[in-house]
Amino acid sequence: MMNKTPHHDPSFYVPPGGPPQGAGPSKAIFGVMGRENIFRMCADFYGELERSEIRWMFSDDMPAASKRIAAFLVGLLGGPPLYHELYGPPQMRARHMPFPIDESARRVWLACFKRTLEGAEDKYAFPSEHLPDFIRFLEEFSAWMVNRK
Ligand code: HEM
Repeated sequence: MMNKTPHHDPSFYVPPGGPPQGAGPSKAIFGVMGRENIFRMCADFYGELERSEIRWMFSDDMPAASKRIAAFLVGLLGGPPLYHELYGPPQMRARHMPFPIDESARRVWLACFKRTLEGAEDKYAFPSEHLPDFIRFLEEFSAWMVNRK
């Protein structure tokens, strides 16, 4: 039988750069922001996505969906591995495969996150010295989520 895993389906796209290699954002960020601020930032981000042209990709329950990325970011930014505890291994690229993410969807997603991050120091106690690295992480990691031409 033919192997129909996404990897072998020519309609799926694998970014030539591969997974991001860098160190990722500073693990000190969680200590400054705390869990509440990260969850609130993600709720606002999903509010932006809700008003965006890629809203159709997401489930009806945006507040619930925002909690999954919040759990992921808590771990990424230096807090406990919440995502892993609640949902299992992150495997983010695999989990995004059902959604047709092309470069233009990525641009919309990033624009929504960047709008959310305007004034993030005041809104979420985001430490400003770590903001550029976090944005660079989002740019690199989102490129790895692209799975369609
Ligand atoms: C390239 C742009 C991206 C698009 C268009 C996108 C789109 C989506 C969609 C449609 C979902 C399903 C949401 C739902 O359940 O309703 C999702 C889930 C998720 N995304 Fe993204 N995403 C992108 C990049 C990223 C990046 C860069 C991260 C990490 C920083 C991320 C983290 C997550 C997480 C943690 C989930 C929940 C997975 C699960 O437990 O099912 N996404 N994303």
